[in-house]
Amino acid sequence: MSDKNATIFVCVSCRDEGDPERRPGAVFLDALRARLKERDLPIRAESVECLAVCKRPATIALAGEAKWTYVIADLDVQANVDDVIESALRFAESENGIVAWKDRPVCFRKGVVSRTPPLP
Ligand code: FES
Repeated sequence: MSDKNATIFVCVSCRDEGDPERRPGAVFLDALRARLKERDLPIRAESVECLAVCKRPATIALAGEAKWTYVIADLDVQANVDDVIESALRFAESENGIVAWKDRPVCFRKGVVSRTPPLP
């Protein structure tokens, strides 16, 4: 998978609207890393300070060399950790990062904020 890679960037700075002390992205990243380790998957999960979608935590970006980058929001730690891993696997398998609609988990269909092309 080295040449068809995927990194999941997770914003750990967003605050929970109902509980400003809670950082949903940080909780999501911890759960994601634990699940990736449990499943022994070669996908990286990295923290970032802000993805500029601050009102819709948890927010991630799927990125890879020579691939389109997707920013996805409204992720729930209880419901979407495995869906994000599935999304990253489909992303990693793709040639250019574009994943067919039918192959996307629901959170990847509904939560996309933007996509950005790779550098030429
Ligand atoms: S603080 Fe999380 S996207 Fe801005």
